Amino acid sequence: MLDLDAGRAETVADDVGGVSLAADVTDPEAARDAVDEAARRLGGLSILVNNAGGSVMAGLADWSPQQWDDIVRLNLTGVWHTMRAGIRHVLAGGGGSVVNTASISGTRPSAGETPYAAAKAGVVALTASAALEYAPLVRVNAVAPGMIRTGLTSVLLDGVEDMVGHYEDITPLARVGAPEDVADVIVFLCSDAARFITGQTVVVDGGMTLHGAGVDGLFDRFFRNPG
Ligand SMILES: NC(=O)c1ccc[n+]([C@@H]2O[C@H](COP(=O)([O-])OP(=O)(O)OC[C@H]3O[C@@H](n4cnc5c(N)ncnc54)[C@H](O)[C@@H]3O)[C@@H](O)[C@H]2O)c1
Repeated sequence: MLDLDAGRAETVADDVGGVSLAADVTDPEAARDAVDEAARRLGGLSILVNNAGGSVMAGLADWSPQQWDDIVRLNLTGVWHTMRAGIRHVLAGGGGSVVNTASISGTRPSAGETPYAAAKAGVVALTASAALEYAPLVRVNAVAPGMIRTGLTSVLLDGVEDMVGHYEDITPLARVGAPEDVADVIVFLCSDAARFITGQTVVVDGGMTLHGAGVDGLFDRFFRNPG
């Protein structure tokens, strides 16, 4: 478990009997050192899950260049940093599986999330390109979660009246997702059950984007016409 927040990494590592490391994936040297250390402590790496990410909302012309860079650096370049550091360990062990976290914001238009959506679409392309480069030894896939209840989304889900009901209404499977809904797909993609799948992005959104984007209406409601 690698996280900017040492405590979070430790909690999850303790839970799964893993090792924890604190590092900022936007820093290429820190990411490389942490991944090398993980490989040393675990005796190699065969699975790599590149999951760190996040964003806020603003209009396209309202992002400062620094904010734009920060969001792209976290959500796209950070994935490359840990892939770059980890892939040689995976190859050294004879192959394995990589899973990146994209988002439905990268697969459907998402007003108010331009740098995040562009970065996540970049993750989809990065994933497919890497799958070609490293086949047949390494499979590289992505997940594109919909609305999942996590630290990133709890402010919205708990802080705005009727938001959970809104997502239940627009999601064919009629609920907000749980982290395990995505984690189970990642486990599947890492496992041998997915042995003939590479270069794909699996949408895990309860069917929401069958008829719309995950953030439809939010930008207008909270930023363009607040009140
Ligand atoms: N929650 C959703 O609805 C949703 C939907 C689509 C995609 N996603 C994606 O899922 C992934 C996980 O998000 P989450 O919802 O669990 O959010 P979260 O904020 O709960 O967790 C993100 C984790 O990433 C860590 N992190 C942030 N910046 C980092 C950095 N520079 N280096 C290392 N670690 C860093 C944070 O400390 C945190 O533990 C992200 O890539 C996010 O974009 C989430």
